[in-house]
Amino acid sequence: MTAPKKLFIKTYGCQMNVYDSERMAESLGEQGYVATENAADADMILLNTCHIREKAAEKVYSELGRLKALKAEKPDLKIGVAGCVAQAEGEEIMRRQPAVDLVVGPQSYHRLPDMEARVRSGEKSLNTDFPEEDKFAALESRPKAARAPSAFLTVQEGCDKFCAFCVVPYTRGAESSRPVARILEEARDLVDRGVREITLLGQNVNAYHGMGADGSDKSLAELIWALNDIDGLARIRFTTSHPNDMTDDLIEAHGACDKLMPYLHLPVQSGSDRILKRMNRSHTAESYLQVIDRIRAARPDILMSGDFIVGFPEETEEDFQATLDLIEAVKYGYAYSFKYSTRPGTPAAERAQVDPDVADDRLQRIQALITRQQQEIQRDMVGRNLHVLVEKSGRNPGQMVGKSEYLHAVHIDNSDARVGDIVPVRITEAKRNSLAALRRK
Ligand code: SAH
Ligand code: SF4
Ligand code: F3S
Repeated sequence: MTAPKKLFIKTYGCQMNVYDSERMAESLGEQGYVATENAADADMILLNTCHIREKAAEKVYSELGRLKALKAEKPDLKIGVAGCVAQAEGEEIMRRQPAVDLVVGPQSYHRLPDMEARVRSGEKSLNTDFPEEDKFAALESRPKAARAPSAFLTVQEGCDKFCAFCVVPYTRGAESSRPVARILEEARDLVDRGVREITLLGQNVNAYHGMGADGSDKSLAELIWALNDIDGLARIRFTTSHPNDMTDDLIEAHGACDKLMPYLHLPVQSGSDRILKRMNRSHTAESYLQVIDRIRAARPDILMSGDFIVGFPEETEEDFQATLDLIEAVKYGYAYSFKYSTRPGTPAAERAQVDPDVADDRLQRIQALITRQQQEIQRDMVGRNLHVLVEKSGRNPGQMVGKSEYLHAVHIDNSDARVGDIVPVRITEAKRNSLAALRRK
């Protein structure tokens, strides 16, 4: 018997890439590959890339430079590029880096086994099509290996919203949703393998409209209620949502569905209506705040999370101040802020750019505010009785680490719990990036 081939996948970018990497590993597993943690051991290296900001894309080329050296020592090594840089710059990758054997765009992963076979026979292979079919449809039987207690499950892909700064509609294509039955089947399979918490993923997950058993389209809320019936599944989350798709049934589910966790990532990008308009966001700061009011009416303790871009073309100090005001008004438990990055082919790339020093200064100011809010909210958790889904053991003996309902990392100091247990705790202290807790009896 020949030794199995080894596969090393390095994943950049969002959670959807994490999900795709797992499934690509499964798909190549059927071709006789086993995963390795060590690139130097691998027979095939796949970079699953992100194109969202310039730096993310550049990282890929520097990594490929290093891999070229590895390939010089190991000529049988095959190098592949997947993900959003592959979609956006496939031909250019092949041209710029001859060590690359395979380029596959995010909607073509079902072609991977064929492509691997071609590459093994010495050819190069590139596929960046947007076919109709579900890219993982062929993967009926997933390996029954045990799993970490939390898993991602992609339910929706692509985006039709075309924000003026964003590459996602180009790299992931038009919005499409997977049918309810396939998602339920995959969810049950995950639960059978020890998963207690599922995070439903989509670039615009709350625009989900997958086909239900009766042939009609179902909303994300309807999907969540269907998942709610799976015994053994304890927690449901979803990300990323668009403010315009927070429908009444989804807001209601936040109040009524116990398994749906009180955490919502709802990016707004800016607090200035002038900039939101220039971003093509189709909502205002006010309408965003109203959505949050409605969500908080349904679920008062919900922890809000968001994304912000500073230094978007033509952003003035006044616009930026409006963003800070919005953050003050919302009070975020988590928020991610980025300096605007010019993306070729997007409308905003053509406009007057903000001075980089000004953008840097705004980034520092927004991050200081966000950090202050995050720490306040973490401190407010002290003394509260929460539940932690245990993910692994901690550094000290007897210590276990997991996540609260609000997605905070929590260290339980006196726990005899096992991975996958949901443990009642009392929060005793807020540390810099996590909370300390004691198990309640
Ligand atoms: N679908 C999600 C976001 C996907 S991209 C949504 O609509 O909210 C994740 C985040 O990256 C965005 O929310 C935005 O804040 C940031 N981002 C996207 N394009 C960017 C760019 N050109 N420069 C800087 N940040 C960007
Ligand atoms: Fe990008 Fe906007 Fe679509 Fe989000 S909604 S993926 S930011 S285009
Ligand atoms: Fe990056 Fe593509 Fe995700 S650009 S953020 S990997 S959808």
